[in-house]
Amino acid sequence: MKIIILESLTKKFNGFTAVDNVSFTVKEGEVFGFLGPNGAGKTTTISMLATLLGPTLGEAHVNGFNIKTQKDDVRKSIGIIFQDPSLDEELTAYENMDFHGRLYHIKKDIREKRIKELLKLVELDERKNDLVKKFSGGMRRRLEIARGLLHEPKVLFLDEPTLGLDPQTRNHIWEYIQKLNKEKKITVMITTHYMEEADKLCDRVAIIDKGKIIALDTPKNLKDGIGGDLITVETPDAESLCPLVQEFSWFKSSNQHDGFVTFNVMDAEKHIAGIADLSCQNNIEIKSINVHKPTLEDVFLHFTGRTIREEEAGSVEHMRMMHKARRRR
Ligand SMILES: Nc1ncnc2c1ncn2[C@@H]1O[C@H](COP(=O)(O)OP(=O)(O)O)[C@@H](O)[C@H]1O
Ligand SMILES: [Mg+2]
Repeated sequence: MKIIILESLTKKFNGFTAVDNVSFTVKEGEVFGFLGPNGAGKTTTISMLATLLGPTLGEAHVNGFNIKTQKDDVRKSIGIIFQDPSLDEELTAYENMDFHGRLYHIKKDIREKRIKELLKLVELDERKNDLVKKFSGGMRRRLEIARGLLHEPKVLFLDEPTLGLDPQTRNHIWEYIQKLNKEKKITVMITTHYMEEADKLCDRVAIIDKGKIIALDTPKNLKDGIGGDLITVETPDAESLCPLVQEFSWFKSSNQHDGFVTFNVMDAEKHIAGIADLSCQNNIEIKSINVHKPTLEDVFLHFTGRTIREEEAGSVEHMRMMHKARRRR
């Protein structure tokens, strides 16, 4: 069964198209990754699916309900965990859960039972009476996940749930997400720009860039779609190197990005020496050469001509500024 269906979903803000004619479906039981750089339109899409934002054009259904005309039914079907933390710091873990349960009118005895079970699931049962302000970033995220599950949703939306967490905690959070996907059979749609995580953990991924879906498939198919291996050369003179390498019969395609050029070739290890010799003969400086199998980052590069890291470089700076501004307040 297709539990999420988007048909030409579009959102414009004052003429600017943030989500541009997006159509895809998510199958029941999937962990579906929604990937893309900052500003690609991920949060806007999730917000429309969660009925928090009305679409400008297009349709979507979640758990069989129309996001425009059956908002209440959609809301009962979903749990949502947003990028920005939304816990009450001055309440305990248990109180945060209980408050949410009351909002959803879950009866007291059922509420108590579920809170207990969910706090156990995210390994916070022993900290249930501690104030959230004492919790680490990872603990807060776990509590938010538990809270998002309290009304037993069919679909869980997670918007960058591991943003800003250290790699170990990120792994931990993913373990919980996988566990509840398996044990509770919840369909998960998760946005992230950590391509490696998505690669390991998602059944399928859609890559969005500038509001448009540029690729959608299993991580394996997307990577295999690039074919061959990749040789990334760090050089200040990619302009000279590219046309020379293009002459080789084993050359498939190339992408220049920020002081690097990536060549897509067959049997890469056989051709490194060829590239090095060619550079030497033509006085082209090479700082480093690296050979690897395609990753989802390469898929993004392949379709956009840009690396997602270049995109993120700008946004990390932006986030630091936002963080500083918040602390000043
Ligand atoms: N309320 C809004 N008003 C105007 N522009 C917005 C609004 N929300 C998002 N945008 C713009 O829409 C684009 C997509 O934003 P968003 O969905 O938050 O991207 P992502 O979550 O992928 O980082 C960005 O260019 C953003 O600046
Ligand atoms: Mg976002």
